[in-house]
Amino acid sequence: MRFRRLSWPFLVFLTVIAICGAETSKSVSPSFARTPKRLMRGQYLVEGLAHCFDCHSERDAKGNPVRGMKGAGRVLPPEESRIALPHLLVCPNITPDRKTGAGSWSDAQLARALRDGIGHDARILDKTMPYWNFRNLTDEDLASIIVFLRSIPAVHHPLPKRKLAAQPVTDWRAEVQPLALASDAPAAARRGEYLVYIGNCTGCHTTTDPQNHAIPGMLFAGGRVFVRPWGTVASANLTRDASGIGYYDEAQFIRTIRTGYVGARPLNRTMPYPVYRNLTDDDLKAIFAYLRTLPPVVHRVDNTEAATLCPKDKNRHGFGDRN
Ligand code: HEC
Ligand code: HEC
Repeated sequence: MRFRRLSWPFLVFLTVIAICGAETSKSVSPSFARTPKRLMRGQYLVEGLAHCFDCHSERDAKGNPVRGMKGAGRVLPPEESRIALPHLLVCPNITPDRKTGAGSWSDAQLARALRDGIGHDARILDKTMPYWNFRNLTDEDLASIIVFLRSIPAVHHPLPKRKLAAQPVTDWRAEVQPLALASDAPAAARRGEYLVYIGNCTGCHTTTDPQNHAIPGMLFAGGRVFVRPWGTVASANLTRDASGIGYYDEAQFIRTIRTGYVGARPLNRTMPYPVYRNLTDDDLKAIFAYLRTLPPVVHRVDNTEAATLCPKDKNRHGFGDRN
């Protein structure tokens, strides 16, 4: 047999080639070209406006992503998922780790998760993942997000699979959306509209009752209550009503987001201001211009006051009884 003549190091070499070959044929060839421009834009969105790592990372006692665990995913505690044990919702590991993360998922699979809410394994994603907002991403922003995700350090972090009582159903987040601005609305406001989608402001600032149902007519009107290790807080009314942020001007808005303070009052970290802080002045101005187009909604929410029952949303939040 001719094979006998092959030395064992050569056989080992052939075996290694065969195994690696099998690996590469399974791995995915990225379809979005990695360019410096996309890496920068992707980081700006992922670590900024889209705040992916506020959900997809373990968080420390102050609510910031734990160092070295960026994108490595976490099990959402029941207060956060609003899903009672033994059911659980998990933010998957989206780092490039091949075994426990997104390393073996294709760009097309990632794009489908972001835009259509379908996981790499074809499961329908729970609406906690804001794909119902991310579906507005332009093709180039979507490509940039995926290119950047591929560049972050791979973290080996096994997590359990989600356990839901039933398949996720369509909930308010898909249907309750602001009316699209008219095409002759000011350019800044229209740019702001796009940014507000990507920032998922409605996901937290829409008024919801304790059963997680949106209250009709109360988009951006706040009062949704968050119970977190870093404190319990209700989201603010962002409309221009006097009970909302009617008194804000552009400079005040930029100051709030950049500093996390409104005057002497520090904002709770549930509001992702440390993440939004990297936004350019132009983007912050555009977001503010958009917020100013929203119809005013009367809804008092004041986190410096004791929580009382609010007849409008059935939650307990500061100045609830004044509504
Ligand atoms: C508000 C929290 C939240 C934010 C913000 C968020 N995600 Fe998710 N994401 C989730 C949850 C929860 C799931 C899992 C849903 C499920 O399994 O039903 C998920 C699922 C995914 C999946 C599907 C993984 C799979 O198994 O196929 C991808 C990919 C993903 N997210 C990427 C991102 C990216 C990229 C961003 C930022 C642009 C982002 N997510 C922002 C909560 C979030
Ligand atoms: C993860 C949830 C979450 C998201 C996403 C979020 N917010 Fe907030 N936001 C909050 C909470 C909670 C508060 C109240 C914080 C407090 O009073 O300590 C808040 C407060 C604010 C305030 C301060 C209002 C005031 O003067 O009291 C502004 C302004 C604001 N958010 C704007 C935004 C904008 C714009 C977006 C989208 C780009 C956004 N938020 C996205 C949760 C969120």
